[in-house]
Amino acid sequence: MAVEGTSNPSDNIQFDLIVIGAGPGGYVAAIRAAQLGLKTACVESRGTLGGTCLNVGCIPSKALLQSSEAFSEVQNKISEHGIKVSGVSLDLAQMLKRKDDIVKGLTKGVEGLFKKNKVTWLQGHGRFVGKNQVAVDAPDGTSKSYHAKNVIIATGSEPIELKAIAPFDQKFIINSTDALVLDKVPEHLVVIGAGVIGLEMGSVWKRLGSKVTVIEAADKVLPPMDGAVSAAMQKILTKQGFEFLLNAKLTGAKVEGKQVKVIFDHEGQKKDLMADKVLIAVGRRPNTYKLGLEAIGLALQPNGRVPVDSHFRTPIDNVYAIGDVIDGVMLAHKAEDEGMAAAEIIAGKSGHVNYEAIPNVVYTWPEVASVGMTEEQCKSKGLDVRIGQFPFAANGRAKCLGQTDGFVKIIADAKTDRLLGFHIVGPNASELIAEGAIAFEFGGSAEDLARSSHAHPTLAETIKEAALSVDKRAIHI
Ligand code: NAI
Repeated sequence: MAVEGTSNPSDNIQFDLIVIGAGPGGYVAAIRAAQLGLKTACVESRGTLGGTCLNVGCIPSKALLQSSEAFSEVQNKISEHGIKVSGVSLDLAQMLKRKDDIVKGLTKGVEGLFKKNKVTWLQGHGRFVGKNQVAVDAPDGTSKSYHAKNVIIATGSEPIELKAIAPFDQKFIINSTDALVLDKVPEHLVVIGAGVIGLEMGSVWKRLGSKVTVIEAADKVLPPMDGAVSAAMQKILTKQGFEFLLNAKLTGAKVEGKQVKVIFDHEGQKKDLMADKVLIAVGRRPNTYKLGLEAIGLALQPNGRVPVDSHFRTPIDNVYAIGDVIDGVMLAHKAEDEGMAAAEIIAGKSGHVNYEAIPNVVYTWPEVASVGMTEEQCKSKGLDVRIGQFPFAANGRAKCLGQTDGFVKIIADAKTDRLLGFHIVGPNASELIAEGAIAFEFGGSAEDLARSSHAHPTLAETIKEAALSVDKRAIHI
């Protein structure tokens, strides 16, 4: 089924580019290609555009994080401002509806962008039937094949299922998609994995009233993050009421009546606890299901990802891949950047992604954001570094906001002062990290940040102070 941005479809329709998947990587690639004059189609099986991110990922989770934070603020913090409220109660149905409305608006928006840019949406499941031939199996059971000079695989990823020990049942043993639509606040939510999804979705339901226990195999929360960040977040979230069981590995989950028994090994001992829901958030895996890769002889890497070179070219001529299906972090903006670059390369331009300057954000409260290397990574590379750190507790704006948890940590090369790592735990870290990402993109130094004027009073002054502190000359501490 083709929803045309151009003329009526016909069986022998030929495209310069077919993008398979309309997530942030795929739809951005399609729009950029169309901007550059390529006759472009995008295959998407979901009834709406935008992929995991817009439909069941970044956007709905951020909508619920915002709503639950507002609920928590009114209940726990607003009185500090001399504002008295009583009779606060939760209307979960309205909170979920608000989230759904936001998703609807944004996915419709992508549809509008496709129309504006004359990108054809081929509705259905896309699969290769030949190197330049993509079949689209429509929801009504019909199938049609389209010719394309170039194809970009942008099929994203899906939650990892621990099939052997805790298969998803969407009721008691749930994934991140199910965690966005719970119609009742669970009394006890057990989360497997203290990664990004575990902490974000755990935060939502914690703020709405759940007891949240997190079981994490590693010895710290947010394991890949800078050690100081992980330690701070464990402390802050524990203060908020999270219970963390570290060095603990899930070994089974069994539904018993209206609850689920969660079985795990914890520091050498077999343990279990009862929960109303168990959210499995142990990572995502690339989505290459029924893509017909064998039809074109495209073999996956041992890690299940599609192999590409630095120009997103797979070993098969004119077949490209971007986003979560290829190596690298599984982040919407990384996929977008790759989508844009791949479209430009296909159009004969010089697209490029600077992987050193891709920020990473966790939308807990306070938020966590980083770009570049952790202190541990710098050490393991034998780099000689200077480190500056500045707390939000010493920042005037943070005091006025009543959000003083956290810090900015800047790691610079000891000899050249070039920025190597930039880490924030604190209010609006997701926005503040843009300054770090741009500084990295420009190959900046700690001194560049220290010399730049930062408006007063702003949270961003913590960045200037952390940069000054690299040279041991912070003013306000
Ligand atoms: P993750 O990789 O962030 O965390 C998974 C955690 O589960 C790890 O800490 C791991 O040690 C632990 N784990 C694995 N197996 C376990 C077991 N059997 N028992 C106990 N712990 C176990 O994965 P997550 O949170 O599922 O997120 C998936 C992806 O989605 C990430 O790569 C992330 O980049 C992306 N994402 C990004 C967001 C953002 O940018 N804010 C939001 C949500 C997801």
